[in-house]
Amino acid sequence: MGTESAGNEGVGGRRSEFLVFGSPMIEEPEIQEVVDSLRSGWLSTGPKVARFEELFREHTGCRYAKAVNSCTAGLHLSLLVSGIQPGDEVITTPMTFGATGNVITHVGADPVFVDVDRASMNIDPDAIEAAITPRTRAIIPVHFAGRPCDMDRILEIARRHDLIVIEDAAHAIEAVYHGRKVGTLGDLASFSFYVTKNLVTGEGGMVTTEREDWAVELERWALHGLSRGAWKRYSDEGFKHYQVVHPGYKYNMMDIQAALGIHQIGRLERYHARREEIWKAYDEAFADLPVFTPAPTEPDTVHARHLYTLLIDIDTLGVDRDSVQQSLQDDNIGTGIHFIALHLHPYYQETYGCCRGDFPNAEWISDRTLSLPLSAKLTDDDVDDVIAAVRRACTPTSRRS
Ligand SMILES: Cc1ncc(COP(=O)(O)O)c(C=O)c1O
Repeated sequence: MGTESAGNEGVGGRRSEFLVFGSPMIEEPEIQEVVDSLRSGWLSTGPKVARFEELFREHTGCRYAKAVNSCTAGLHLSLLVSGIQPGDEVITTPMTFGATGNVITHVGADPVFVDVDRASMNIDPDAIEAAITPRTRAIIPVHFAGRPCDMDRILEIARRHDLIVIEDAAHAIEAVYHGRKVGTLGDLASFSFYVTKNLVTGEGGMVTTEREDWAVELERWALHGLSRGAWKRYSDEGFKHYQVVHPGYKYNMMDIQAALGIHQIGRLERYHARREEIWKAYDEAFADLPVFTPAPTEPDTVHARHLYTLLIDIDTLGVDRDSVQQSLQDDNIGTGIHFIALHLHPYYQETYGCCRGDFPNAEWISDRTLSLPLSAKLTDDDVDDVIAAVRRACTPTSRRS
């Protein structure tokens, strides 16, 4: 299924061109669709956003899907519409991007981190249960790298303690858990279409829910708290007055962004299949190295294959993860780190007194993790280059000084 690329042979078998981590696959139909938006003059929220929401509903099987300008905005609005307030506690994982914790503070609530399972890298349900207090109002599980969390246990805990579940589905657009798509499991879910994601709109996000009242609120909060959006105010049905019903935000998605999404969404399966091939090639190629490859996928689930996070066995190799990353960089291979555990960042240490030692599993992963290129855009030669560079960096005897 992959393609061959020619002429990228550098010195000593190394690439001559830098391989950008997370470079998105963009095809001609979405380029033409963006041009069409530009020519039409309808650049901001309009018919293409409505179409993208419709396609997203079909994809996940959810009742309501509301497009926003980022997953971060979607998480923030999810907390708002579900009534999370100052003084409330929201339990989440430290093995995530800053956005997941930051939005909790944006509504004045307190993030409460709990440790992850070392193999799945997802939030540990036992640790959630142990962290519940009378102030706990919500849980934000993150489907890390595209691997669905243990949602049966999380939803059961939430039901028993009357907690809201907001799925951080930034990585997980193709993920399926026990026959249901991620995005239909919790009370709300937020997806990301940032450039490195499985579906890209440049910047962008989508919130899904089954509740009509929340869907209405999401749309209002995303557009200044107006009673009607621009599409309804300025369309050929005639001008309509609006009222400000909340002090809302400016979180709406543009038609220019949705123009990309409405074509990308039709290729999710094809791109996922290509990433699956690359994933298998990496698993096989690294089996004999001092690294830990991602754990097998849990039964009756589909992993969205968003991030291939190699864990460097730093004790056996005798060098730290950053040195391995530098070695790949020197070989013209771009990589990512997902993530430095959130409780190790200065804001969370200074504000909430978090410190190293709090969450041993998250820290173990944080110190060793290195994400390799996994875009559907990679050619077979690109994949071979990544493999060769990882083997050079992680083979103790041939390590360069
Ligand atoms: C787990 C997770 N949550 C949320 C986000 C935020 O997504 P966005 O950039 O669309 O706001 C990201 C972004 O990478 C992420 O990795």
